[in-house]
Amino acid sequence: MTANPAPVADWVTIPDLYRDPFPIYDRLRAEGGVHWVPQVGRYLITSYDAVHATEFDQETFSANEEGSLQIRAMGHSMLRRDDPEHYAERAAWQPVLRPGVVKRTWRAVFERNADRYIDELVERGPDADLIWDFAAPFAAENLREILGFHNVHQTDLQRWSQTLIDATGNYADDPAVWELGRRSFDEVDLALDEMLTWHVKHPDHSLISSLLAMPGDRMPIEKIRANIKMTIGGGLNEPRDALGVAAWALLSHPDQRRAVEEDPALWSAVFEESLRWIAPIGLYSRQTTRDVELSGVLLPAGAKLGICILSANRDESVWDDADRFDIRREVKPHLAFSKGVHVCLGAWVARSQVADIGLPRLFGRLRGLDLVADRPAQVGGWVFRGMLKLPVQWSSDSGAAGVGAAADGAAAPTAGSTETATPSTPARVAIVGAGPAGCFTAQALRRAAPDAQIDVFDALPVPYGLLRYGVASDHQGTKSVARQFDRLFDPEHTRFHGNVRLGADVTLERLRESFDAVVLATGLHSDVRLAVPGSELPGIVGAGALTRAANGHPDEAGTPHLGENVVVVGHGNVAMDVVRLLSRDPQDYDGSDIDDDVLREIAGDVRTVHVVGRSLPSAARFDPVMVRELAGLAGVRHVVHGADLDTVPAGKDARLDAVRELTSSGDGDGHRERVTVEWWFGLSPVRIEGDAAAEAVVFASPDGEVRLAADSVVTAVGFAADPESPLEPAAHASGRVEPGLYTAGWLRRGPRGTIPDQRADARGLAAMILEDLAAHTSAEDRPARREWERLAPAVDADGWRRVDLQERLAAVPGRERRKLRSREELLAAARDESIALPPRDDGPAAARGFGVPVTVAFASESGGAELVTDDLRRVLEPTTDVRVLDLGEARPDDLDPARLHLVVSSTYGDGEVPTAARPFHAALRSGAHRLDGLRYAVFGMGDRSYTKTYSRGSELLDEALAACGAERVGEYGRHDAGSGADPVEAAQEWLDGIGEVVGADVAVAAGADATRSV
Ligand SMILES: Cc1cc2nc3c(=O)[nH]c(=O)nc-3n(C[C@H](O)[C@H](O)[C@H](O)COP(=O)(O)OP(=O)(O)OC[C@H]3O[C@@H](n4cnc5c(N)ncnc54)[C@H](O)[C@@H]3O)c2cc1C
Ligand code: HEM
Ligand SMILES: Cc1cc2nc3c(=O)[nH]c(=O)nc-3n(C[C@H](O)[C@H](O)[C@H](O)COP(=O)(O)O)c2cc1C
Repeated sequence: MTANPAPVADWVTIPDLYRDPFPIYDRLRAEGGVHWVPQVGRYLITSYDAVHATEFDQETFSANEEGSLQIRAMGHSMLRRDDPEHYAERAAWQPVLRPGVVKRTWRAVFERNADRYIDELVERGPDADLIWDFAAPFAAENLREILGFHNVHQTDLQRWSQTLIDATGNYADDPAVWELGRRSFDEVDLALDEMLTWHVKHPDHSLISSLLAMPGDRMPIEKIRANIKMTIGGGLNEPRDALGVAAWALLSHPDQRRAVEEDPALWSAVFEESLRWIAPIGLYSRQTTRDVELSGVLLPAGAKLGICILSANRDESVWDDADRFDIRREVKPHLAFSKGVHVCLGAWVARSQVADIGLPRLFGRLRGLDLVADRPAQVGGWVFRGMLKLPVQWSSDSGAAGVGAAADGAAAPTAGSTETATPSTPARVAIVGAGPAGCFTAQALRRAAPDAQIDVFDALPVPYGLLRYGVASDHQGTKSVARQFDRLFDPEHTRFHGNVRLGADVTLERLRESFDAVVLATGLHSDVRLAVPGSELPGIVGAGALTRAANGHPDEAGTPHLGENVVVVGHGNVAMDVVRLLSRDPQDYDGSDIDDDVLREIAGDVRTVHVVGRSLPSAARFDPVMVRELAGLAGVRHVVHGADLDTVPAGKDARLDAVRELTSSGDGDGHRERVTVEWWFGLSPVRIEGDAAAEAVVFASPDGEVRLAADSVVTAVGFAADPESPLEPAAHASGRVEPGLYTAGWLRRGPRGTIPDQRADARGLAAMILEDLAAHTSAEDRPARREWERLAPAVDADGWRRVDLQERLAAVPGRERRKLRSREELLAAARDESIALPPRDDGPAAARGFGVPVTVAFASESGGAELVTDDLRRVLEPTTDVRVLDLGEARPDDLDPARLHLVVSSTYGDGEVPTAARPFHAALRSGAHRLDGLRYAVFGMGDRSYTKTYSRGSELLDEALAACGAERVGEYGRHDAGSGADPVEAAQEWLDGIGEVVGADVAVAAGADATRSV
């Protein structure tokens, strides 16, 4: 493609941009996204892809702009430098703004300030303005304390911030604006000089103290001055505006306000969606260092650019209906905090003060908070955009003590909260749907209320939903989550009733009469159809139906035969599963539970797979690890179309890197090429052509139509509820439909989350259910629980165990099991009492003693490590003082050198510590903690098929503990989820080894004591 000169947008004016930039940006994006705008004197970069490209290439798009007004107004800060100078300054700023420090130090400050300024807002009374009477002083006082300016008032910070920013934007060269800016510049320097002396004698947690603690040459005083001014300019107005816009958005969208008041976990979605919708920093500048092509437009060397975040965040090629404020929309990476090397350092401070504290406290306290009809809110700005006015009223103030309670007084506990109210009589809970969501909810209820009586129903004779019938056969590591669930069912507390369909075999009313609480976790199984002409033709199959068939689902009667040429529409993870199914070498399924006959029928003839998505790689829906797995398949050639791989350098965008890996894969792997996978980006389906069956799919691209011939088409564009579902999907985001009726899993959230997400959600939901039950006394005249034992067509947990055993015994060599494929076969096996079941695996019997107190500390994503931890606790409990610590909620200070720590950790992401435990890991690595004298042993859980990162998460924890001075004892234990070995058994073997080492130490120590006492 040859680059063209930039189109000129002479119709754009600054007053119009200030009033409402969005229609202007819509047009600029539609016309290519890169324009020369004479009135602004800059090239405006407006499309998501173009903005994104500039953020990752500082060598071409420099932040160090010639003649920068910001440098004149505030001095030369990190924001106007490129690496390596920028990096050194940024590193000096970082320690005070890290998430762990925010949690430990600043959170309490934000809480205090929120209460104080809500008090002042209330005092202000009927003519109060939410921005100027709350958001601004709240953000200013928070920043004052973080910086450590103990000699000034928050109103000084507000004045400095505004005048420094006005000077930065003084393109009109107004002398009065320069004068005000200069005055603030001098005032900041004066106050800073005073505080530098003070902090030497009174070090505290503030930024100024932290800078003083660094070696003098690291941050010379001139750099401190410039960066402090920049932080005053950027650290106050943005959280103020984020809070104001979020409040305005909620007050104007009552349904979304209700949802968040019911489910406080949604505050974070409110915050992120507000930033996407109206980015507080609407535009920042960059300058090109060479001639460069951007989105087909030539930018000459030295070109001054305006990077329009407000516009990129509304790009309709990334977000559907992008102008709508919608906290339930699919999460995609917005650019409000920027990306690349200048990504905002204060993001965690902002999240904490706005999403965790400011907004929840405001809405929790001020009952009936509302807009004022005759004093409308006003929003403005384009370089910075936010609320100019936000007059509000309210009916009553519930006071600081009432905070935390949701609007109806029943606070929904957030995920991970450990204090759970339990009802006085054992709770009776029915869960409909034995997929991951249903099973994790049952598990969480049992953990929080061990007496609870739980009945889990499923329409199929066998449990586990998509874990059994969706997750790919060659991902046995993921499927091994089922082991946890097998342990869940016991006749007394948690019973399974398979083959019972809600609607057909039992009604919701009947369940509600019989149980204190009913949870609907029935998932979403209908494939969404493509909304284009021809989508009804034969030869088109949904990815859900296809993966069910491949997994031996009893209701997928026929097995589709896809022919030679297949078009897969969609770029999500399910589409990636489909591409793997169609292209992986049939010889390469060792250890899986694939049915080879079914695989041959589906994929035996496939030679070409076209996999087509709307977005460019950086905004595609797949996880990079899924694409890398495809890149590693033998005998597969990959061809990539329409991915602009050169705009962003390697190492900056994981999705692009994964797609690059495709283009370099397959060279010389020595395998015969069996299948070609053609990857298409940026194409939207227009129609499907064919007479009696689908013959081709036609797509629209910026360069015209693309027609791909197809023997069959697989659509992987989402899932919808089954027609008979009593609830709308994603209509009750909090999980509570009303007290007594709840929803979980994909039915609750829509078809997005992973299995670990179901586990994370289940904890919060279980706590909410128990809290509701504690508040509402249970009806006493419920039918006896025994009634449910006589439910005619049901299959119980032993029935499932018979199926499981029979399937495993029927496995051919190299396969984990051979699934029974029809309901009749499943029911026959479940009821075949001649199948002798081994005794139930209730966990370890033998108790072991250690002679020292032990803490089992776990880090888990989908619960495997927690299950192992439970077992280790049970083994040790009879003889040893044992405690359990969830590293997802722990801090390094929680580790007690007087106790031996058994660390059990899995690995996620791409060789990372499980998500929840990352703050703990980061805190260890911060260097702020010494753990001398602490002894620990490590059991790593991973999957050897991740060859480069096997068990890496546990190793990262090990390395971080050792770096803090702790000492590892005994052998390193490992479990490979793909090996088929039971993790609990592997952990017990490891524990024996540790026991021997520690036992010997204890004996030596006892001996030494004995010698001393003589
Ligand atoms: C093809 C595919 C592959 C996936 N692969 C992965 C992966 O590798 N890793 C990962 O983390 N996530 C994966 N996921 C996502 C994961 O499967 C979901 O996060 C999870 O299964 C959602 O759990 P759920 O319990 O809400 O739904 P489901 O797993 O669908 O469970 C719902 C259960 O309800 C039952 N049911 C439905 N209607 C009724 C009724 N009327 N009466 C009684 N019972 C009923 C169903 O039989 C089913 O057992 C995949 C999803 C798909 C579609
Ligand atoms: C919602 C609130 C906030 C938003 C939307 C926001 C946005 C941004 C953006 C877009 C940038 C990059 C600008 C550029 O590259 O030119 C940035 C950088 C920065 N922000 Fe924020 N910010 C917010 C809050 C804060 C807070 C509270 C602080 C400090 C306490 C802070 C400190 C910084 C710093 C120091 C940088 C410079 C980083 C660097 O150059 O490496 N920000 N912010
Ligand atoms: C998305 C995903 C990513 C994973 N990444 C890795 C990895 O990089 N290295 C590894 O050894 N195991 C990896 N695993 C395997 C898990 O660590 C393993 O299944 C473990 O038993 C899960 O334990 P948990 O349930 O406690 O999280 C991954 C699993 C999944 C589903």
